[in-house]
Amino acid sequence: KPRVLSGIQPTADSFHLGNYLGAVRQWVALQETHDAFYFIADLHAITVEHDPKLLRKRTRVSVAQLLALGLDPDRATLFVQSQVPEHAELGWVMQCLAGFGEASRMTQFKDKSAKQSVDRVTVGLFAYPVLQAADILLYRPRYVPVGEDQRQHLELTRDLAHRFNTRFGKAFQPPEAYILKGTAKIYDLQEPSAKMSKSASSPGGIIELLDDPKVSAKKIRSAVTDTGREVVFDQENKPGVSNLLSIYSALTGREIDELQTAYEGKGYGDLKKDLGEVVADFVTPVRDQVKSYMDDPAELDKVLARGAERAREVASGTLARVYDKLGFLAGR
Ligand code: TYM
Repeated sequence: KPRVLSGIQPTADSFHLGNYLGAVRQWVALQETHDAFYFIADLHAITVEHDPKLLRKRTRVSVAQLLALGLDPDRATLFVQSQVPEHAELGWVMQCLAGFGEASRMTQFKDKSAKQSVDRVTVGLFAYPVLQAADILLYRPRYVPVGEDQRQHLELTRDLAHRFNTRFGKAFQPPEAYILKGTAKIYDLQEPSAKMSKSASSPGGIIELLDDPKVSAKKIRSAVTDTGREVVFDQENKPGVSNLLSIYSALTGREIDELQTAYEGKGYGDLKKDLGEVVADFVTPVRDQVKSYMDDPAELDKVLARGAERAREVASGTLARVYDKLGFLAGR
């Protein structure tokens, strides 16, 4: 089976619809047909200021959400990044391969660092995409299922893989981004030109899976739509309505064309009301399951221990090969 790998940061109390539709939904589908590795990127979560208590809770809530959304730890290897020390170790190697210039060109770094005061921008935040390259290359996956915003990091990963192979001999296989067209970028409800984002969106712009569905329905009702009244998909001129249609289509499996026909002669209000119900139907069982997983954190930790063990089997093999090629003395 071809291998896939991906990660998500535990930096919010809940995943949002962008995380789910852009990435996690593909993770669930791919576990059936691929040798799948998925992890919670807690090492990445400390690149900006954080609260240790919150991080511990959010890491477990993240795992609970992945399980509630359909990940099966018997089919996919599910783990927490910090429990697999090879990530940090290969991360250092990658830092010694990456150029200052190319890291400076990462648009996510530019966006995130612009929002912090200068002396708070950590070296870790700068090196973040380079650690991400290590995360990926450790497992030699064929595909990395992510949203559009990760494409540039995937390009960097491929460049670093090529560079290592050229200089030291083949250790890596450059992976491909696996990005689904219709849901690659879910937009902020209040600002439909920007992506829905844990860190950048206003509360009204983001639909959190663990929010009360009544709150989400209200946010959908007050989503920014466009002048005009017709429910048609037109990314250019009607980004707000188009975003609602993308979400609707993804959650129900109904084609956009079919939805346009169904809403002929109706207005935005009808679309928004119905989408509120669609979202409620989707999140209600997820919320219930997350709650029950969180009642037994010891069981979650057991799942993670098993995942970390399986992940290390692969990761330690790759790291040993890399160390050898770099000229490090063999240990043990
Ligand atoms: P993170 O935690 O920001 O997001 C997790 C996943 O959700 C996708 N995503 C979106 N997709 C569509 N529309 C949106 N509005 C939207 N917002 C987020 C992201 O593209 C991502 O796939 N750097 C990564 C975590 C990471 C990683 C890795 C991923 C660390 N190491 C190795 C893959 C492989 C991140 O911050 O994702």
